[in-house]
Amino acid sequence: MVRGKKEIIDYVEEYTKSNDCEEIINESSILNNIGFNSWSFKKLIFLDYYLKLYLTILSNKSKCYFLDFFSGAGANIIEGKNLKSVGSPIISILKGVIPNKSQGVNIRFHKWIFLEKNKDFYEALKKRIEKTSKIVRKNTEETLKIGTDIEIFNEDSNIFINNLIEKIKRECKNERFSILVFIDPYKFSEIEWDTVKRILTMKYVDVIFNIPTNTFKRGVDKCNEKEKYLSPSLLKICSQCSFSNIPDDEISNLYAKDIVNIVGRSICYLSNNSVSVKNNCNSELYKIELFSHHRRAVEIAEDIAKRLKRLDCKNMNELVNQVLGKQTSLNKYF
Ligand SMILES: C[S@@+](CC[C@H](N)C(=O)[O-])C[C@H]1O[C@@H](n2cnc3c(N)ncnc32)[C@H](O)[C@@H]1O
Repeated sequence: MVRGKKEIIDYVEEYTKSNDCEEIINESSILNNIGFNSWSFKKLIFLDYYLKLYLTILSNKSKCYFLDFFSGAGANIIEGKNLKSVGSPIISILKGVIPNKSQGVNIRFHKWIFLEKNKDFYEALKKRIEKTSKIVRKNTEETLKIGTDIEIFNEDSNIFINNLIEKIKRECKNERFSILVFIDPYKFSEIEWDTVKRILTMKYVDVIFNIPTNTFKRGVDKCNEKEKYLSPSLLKICSQCSFSNIPDDEISNLYAKDIVNIVGRSICYLSNNSVSVKNNCNSELYKIELFSHHRRAVEIAEDIAKRLKRLDCKNMNELVNQVLGKQTSLNKYF
């Protein structure tokens, strides 16, 4: 283990086995039971790592918002395993308050906003977030009120985006604000290109985007509404060849370049260091990409990205088996 760095396995253990996370998971019987697997921990770990970095850099300069556009139920069951994990919204709250005894004021997001379309997931998420806020209070003495500090909406992100932008602008008036957005759809057809553009029109937005390359490859050729979901470069390329023949890297690179084009030079991204998440058949499911206005933040985030990139699906399965107590000896993951 590299000194000072948290082991990858410690993150997995924390999300699945810590007392706080177990209590939060058990707050509802509704869990997301599709699409979460050993490799899904990569996106949670990346988010966890970036939250601290982001708040440390920005929280004393502006009001910081955290937006999760595809929140889920707050807890997931790992496919084929008897193991449950908290999801991105819970991690964003648990790690979005950093105790700061020397200053006497915790470092935290000004506000968290969660969107989830599925009604049952939304209800479960609400319960889990209420529990999480109690746990944060116990651990950090920070009070997070639902409805004030944390808002949860049972809405479609593609429809609600305009209200959301207006709401944030109204709340911040002339104050400087920064936003960290987490975008984690199952499929390319869950997020419209127009929504991505609208998110990026807000001035200081950092985005962690799990670009669903796999569903692009499998679904675009059959999709009747390509203009709705594809970025301009992807739209152009799909008029020239079948999408299933386009390499994963090219899909995510073109999509990322179109995002950068909208924002302009001021934004940087992981590019070659983005994290590919692959399944048991070694097919890429999505690419974890970070877009940020802070070059230094991207440079530091490259550290965790490189560590996660080194772990393939087999390694991730071994890590989870280790957490389940099914595997006693394990190579060191760092
Ligand atoms: C991959 S899951 C998110 C998992 C979550 N990030 C986590 O870490 O647990 C995607 C979620 O987005 C929701 N969803 C799909 N389309 C949506 C939309 N247009 N607006 C809001 N939520 C949507 C789905 O119901 C699902 O719960």
